[in-house]
Amino acid sequence: MITDRPDKTSGIMYSYSLLLLVLLCGMIFPGDVIGAEVRSPDGQIAFSIDIGASGTPRYHVHYRGEEIIRESKLGMHFASQHGFEYDFTITRTRTGTTDNTWEQPWGERRFVRDHHNELLVEFAANERPKRRFKLRVRVFNDGLGFRYEVPRQSRYRNVNIVDELTEFHLPGEATVWWTPGRRFNRYEYIYQSGSLDGIEMAHTPMTVRLPSGVHMSFHEAALVDYAAYVLDQRRPNLFEVNLTPWSDGVRVKTGTPFLTPWRTIQISPNAAGLLNSSLILNLNEPNALGDVSWVKPGKYVGIWWGMHIRTFTWSSGPKHGATTENTKRYMDFAAEYGFDGVLVEGWNIGWDGDWFFNGDLFSFTETYPDFDLQEVTDYGRELGVRLIGHHETSGNVTNYEKQWDEALALYESVGVGAVKTGYVADAGDIKWVDRNGVAHFEWHDGQFMVDHYLRSVKKAAEHKIGVNPHEPIKDTGLRRTYPNWLTREGVRGQEFNAWGDPPNPPEHTAIIPYTRMLAGPADFTPGVFNLTFQGMESKQRVQTTLAKQLALYVVLYSPLQMAADLPENYEQRLDAFQFIVDVPADWEESIGLAGEIGDYVVMARQERGGSDWYVGALTDEEARVLTVPLSFLDAGQRYRAEIYRDGSDAHWKDNPYDIVIEQQDVTAADKLQLPLGASGGAAIRLIPVN
Ligand code: NOJ
Ligand code: CA
Repeated sequence: MITDRPDKTSGIMYSYSLLLLVLLCGMIFPGDVIGAEVRSPDGQIAFSIDIGASGTPRYHVHYRGEEIIRESKLGMHFASQHGFEYDFTITRTRTGTTDNTWEQPWGERRFVRDHHNELLVEFAANERPKRRFKLRVRVFNDGLGFRYEVPRQSRYRNVNIVDELTEFHLPGEATVWWTPGRRFNRYEYIYQSGSLDGIEMAHTPMTVRLPSGVHMSFHEAALVDYAAYVLDQRRPNLFEVNLTPWSDGVRVKTGTPFLTPWRTIQISPNAAGLLNSSLILNLNEPNALGDVSWVKPGKYVGIWWGMHIRTFTWSSGPKHGATTENTKRYMDFAAEYGFDGVLVEGWNIGWDGDWFFNGDLFSFTETYPDFDLQEVTDYGRELGVRLIGHHETSGNVTNYEKQWDEALALYESVGVGAVKTGYVADAGDIKWVDRNGVAHFEWHDGQFMVDHYLRSVKKAAEHKIGVNPHEPIKDTGLRRTYPNWLTREGVRGQEFNAWGDPPNPPEHTAIIPYTRMLAGPADFTPGVFNLTFQGMESKQRVQTTLAKQLALYVVLYSPLQMAADLPENYEQRLDAFQFIVDVPADWEESIGLAGEIGDYVVMARQERGGSDWYVGALTDEEARVLTVPLSFLDAGQRYRAEIYRDGSDAHWKDNPYDIVIEQQDVTAADKLQLPLGASGGAAIRLIPVN
């Protein structure tokens, strides 16, 4: 249970506003509709709140004068008490302003400015004893968030939430990019786009473009001790928060006082503006772990892609990937090219047979006989390379939790600094066993798992280990509070190119920067060089050019960034591989320069603690020439641009390896012309020169 504690980074100065006066008038003349409004610091976004005829709290949002959220309800229903839905009046409002800058230990940018106006609205129902709740609203220049704060109340000691009534009522038709919610493959779907018509339930972030060109992305921040939500289109254009239920049907089991996560809307006049939003991080609590200098971002290779393309197996046998010898080979490669880590999957007992369904058999401490944990970690230590651990649970959470302490202590004892966890199970099939031995099956994004994922991060922190969950809960910015929560999957990643039907389409990575990536970092695992591993004619291939694989290192942020392919495939293309060797995984600053959702994207990032800049640009199935102004560079400084771009005949389908690697001297006054082939890209390193 989280309790309401003041945000230590903010120095909110509450001022009783004029609104209170308006409010008092409302109380003197009952029946009047009373309300309040709060605007972004630049005045462009206005969030207003009032009470409807039956005493139902509701809100609207305007952006630059346009109504972008129509009248939308607030409230919730409980299993055995009166809900927060009707009969309410506003009893008090308070406003405040925060403007401060905080520092990330690692991240897409070092300094984050948190500049917002806040409105706190207190509601009470008219009967006695009064039902009470509050809504806290924060409006930034890049969007807004609001959360329910429910104070301690005698009749609400224990509360089972059966429905949250929060609505997002879109003004009319819009273009939307979305993946389906409550479906078996969790967050791992190809994005759909088009009108709102086809949507029943959608995961967040879900991003829309209004006819005016305004872009909005719906998500949540600080998801703690609560269920995640999907957007449920209950009426045309009207989305309701649909909380993922427990296996017994209750959505959230809590008691007063409690807080909900922030319901967020990122707002921008154009697509590229979304790329520069820090809203989700700003709505999270500051670092709760103290000194986190032991948390290390970095690049890694791994015994991984080989299993997905069936060169290796996770299971024991002649093709077993996780052998001592093979791991040492990967460590040699990592050391030679400056990688920080080597991921090894399939090292522990339990992979034989159908591991998808045998999660109860996984041991997290016993290795296969051909893998010597001590020997490989000793070997790595000599080379300056760390083993990245792996815990696949197949969704059998009780089996994992029973072994947690021992498993993490083992990894800590041999110097493992980060562990990739896995929850391969159909959505709704996460198994836990209660005290009576009865098995229960939960969703990956219900309250039970929200709690499990966060406990796994806290547990790992006790052992100074970072975490990278696959089949995770969606990112809601908790890396700010728990900086060892480095990255996660929660996206249809590179692995689908190995065996997915179909593989990721060319537009996939031109959509996810504006949707999934708005939530936070993703372990997408870029960098496959042998794009046509089953031959040019096979459908099972990577649908990008080689240059686009390089662009992904800049476009898709992850503090643990993988070079996914086999070492021998990199050794064949050392010229192109040089970009992966050079590109960092930790940044001083990141700038979304240009783009349109599903068409293209251009990102620039500056190395953390350095002066080099990197640019990544990529396109969907359409070839295009992009002009990129370099005005983000230091004025008056000359830079050498090392450019890795598509050749003039590059095309993902029949000529994916056509790449040009060239150099050019540039300054901030220059514009780079980047010709991109179909599903192509460009990756550029900019180095200051005298
Ligand atoms: C699914 C993960 O996404 C993938 O990276 C991993 O190799 C397998 N599970 C096995 O754990
Ligand atoms: Ca996966």
